[in-house]
Amino acid sequence: MKINTFKLENYLSQHEFLPQHLLCRSDAESMALRDLLDMADHEDQELWNNLQLGYTTAAGMPILRQLIVQEMYKDLMAHQVLCFSGSEGAGFSALFALCEPEDHVIVLTPCYQALIEIPKFRGCEISQLSLKEENNWCIDIDAIRSMIKSNTKWLIINFPHNPSGQVITPEELKNLIKLLDEHGVWLFSDESSRLLGAPIDGWAEPAAVLYPKAVSLNGMSKAFGLGGLRIGWVACQDPAAINKIKEIKNYTTIGNSTPSELLSVIALKNKDVILEKNNQILSDNLVILDLFFTKNQKLFSWVWPQGGCVGWVHYKGKEDVDLFCKKLLRDTGVLLMPASVYDVNENYFRIGFGHKDMVTAIGKLQQYLEALA
Ligand SMILES: Cc1ncc(COP(=O)(O)O)c(C=O)c1O
Repeated sequence: MKINTFKLENYLSQHEFLPQHLLCRSDAESMALRDLLDMADHEDQELWNNLQLGYTTAAGMPILRQLIVQEMYKDLMAHQVLCFSGSEGAGFSALFALCEPEDHVIVLTPCYQALIEIPKFRGCEISQLSLKEENNWCIDIDAIRSMIKSNTKWLIINFPHNPSGQVITPEELKNLIKLLDEHGVWLFSDESSRLLGAPIDGWAEPAAVLYPKAVSLNGMSKAFGLGGLRIGWVACQDPAAINKIKEIKNYTTIGNSTPSELLSVIALKNKDVILEKNNQILSDNLVILDLFFTKNQKLFSWVWPQGGCVGWVHYKGKEDVDLFCKKLLRDTGVLLMPASVYDVNENYFRIGFGHKDMVTAIGKLQQYLEALA
């Protein structure tokens, strides 16, 4: 069976490491290894200096899994978390293991392509439910209700939503779970940007804490800005589901990088400091973006993103958004991400605002627009 090209990852790998102004990244500002190690307590410094570079426990170091539940999934236990190489590795293994051919799977779109491609690759029957700008990109529970069939096995969601930055409220998640439970439908919830941002109604709990038939996906890449560690995980209350996912891991990476797991431990112990730093950059950048969009409202509009560090901008210019992005990159080195990368045939692009250098990139974009005018 064929797997489709991952357009988004190809787009990024084509441009990401050239000396350009990346204005579409979905991760928060990163940090130097030295700065992270400076945060380590005495015990972790000793562990780091004497770290044996043999295999780690396949499911993830016990101390890491313990910290993940302590910091993120209050009512879960360490054995209900499995660590992987990135959320990508976690998502692949979980969806590959748990989606069966012929299962009906509902996916909210536009979405990070892996969330739809893996169930497709497994031979599932896919129904896409498009989030709508007129509904502020919010989840529509009635629309989901109308799509559930007798063979519906999974609903796949991603909040904070990549690319719109919309979140699911605690109330919406509660109502969603009630609906899914009535129909025995499982929930796959990509929460990889959770805790980045400041949602008006506060953060919904991770789905895996609230619903025994849920898998929550998260990792160190987005809110912590530590994508280079390549550490992600799934959390799920169901032991049979955890075992099935673990079997796929046995055939892919077995265990993770030992140094990366220990560095993740250090980061999790300093979660509040790191998240405060990253959220401050984000909120400073949002003030600048608000001014930018007010100034250029004839050309752009967006729904204020409540979580994560990307937004989905409606481009109202005459030309196709692909062409706009291409010319912008050619003339200024500023990289946006057009909607075609998400298989969306409308004039939107993704903008990213998690990094300090956004200020320079926005300045270049403004100059470009003024020169055009
Ligand atoms: C929604 C979403 N899920 C998962 C991932 C994978 O992240 P990583 O493997 O870096 O943790 C990404 C990366 O961009 C993403 O945007």
